[in-house]
Amino acid sequence: MKALLEILQPGEPDWDLAQAIDPDRLPAHIAIIMDGNGRWANRRSMPRVAGHRAGIGPVRATVETCARLGIEALTLYAFSIENWKRPRQEVDTLWRLLRHYLGKEMSSLMRNGIRLTAIGRLDSLPPDVRRDLDRAVRQTEANSGLRVNLAINYGGRAELVDALNAVLEEARLEGRLSTLQIDEEAVEAHLYTAGQPHPDLLIRTSGEMRISNFLLWQIAYSELYVTDVFWPDFSRSDLLRAICEYQKRDRRFGGLSPRGHGRSSRQPVAEEIGVPAR
Ligand code: FPP
Repeated sequence: MKALLEILQPGEPDWDLAQAIDPDRLPAHIAIIMDGNGRWANRRSMPRVAGHRAGIGPVRATVETCARLGIEALTLYAFSIENWKRPRQEVDTLWRLLRHYLGKEMSSLMRNGIRLTAIGRLDSLPPDVRRDLDRAVRQTEANSGLRVNLAINYGGRAELVDALNAVLEEARLEGRLSTLQIDEEAVEAHLYTAGQPHPDLLIRTSGEMRISNFLLWQIAYSELYVTDVFWPDFSRSDLLRAICEYQKRDRRFGGLSPRGHGRSSRQPVAEEIGVPAR
């Protein structure tokens, strides 16, 4: 948090937004569906790929801001399994941009202690993309600051299928397949994001109210924040606004509010719905 204030000037809008954020209640993990690149380009009569190119700036700014805030993990939805349905030229451009980003950002990632991980079905990536990703993941492995998960060739259903198959395979190797009972802990331990906190805040840009097969297991209790802003226009202010909004939410995780909003333990459920309490 302090590191963010260091680069802001009193009086500028982001300064006020940053001051409004409670450093003790930051989301540990932010996940983002970066949507609207194509529409951003269409509105400017530019080819769709120009929107993807313009999407690199907000990736950089978001990573920097999360690192300066002291956020633990950031997951960015960069390429879904379904994105292979797009024209070849667009898919190739996305790979080029990813490789360009990895090449250009490595020194900054290292300087800022950022650890990069890739989540998804990485075996099906073009070999040069896979090689660059593996290298970046290896180089940043020992960094202990912000963890950036790039979701690439990612699908939430595929992740669950992969996790379940891994649970089965492990049991088979250990000779306990016939008595195996799968529980939540077992699935959890084999997710691509095993060991990381679940996203507290899920941001989607471009106004679409969809989850689009993203982190289906992990977002069970995430706070959703949808903004109409297209991803290439998503600024530091937009991110800070999303965090401010997140901090106003009353998170109950299916229980009762610790802050005393809504139902409280002093107000029996039966009474609330008009059933006489015994
Ligand atoms: C969705 O917009 C965006 C994508 C499928 C790709 C996101 C990629 C980037 C932001 C650039 C590279 C990323 C990294 C991590 C270096 P869309 O094309 O679906 O937009 P539309 O809904 O308006 O068509």
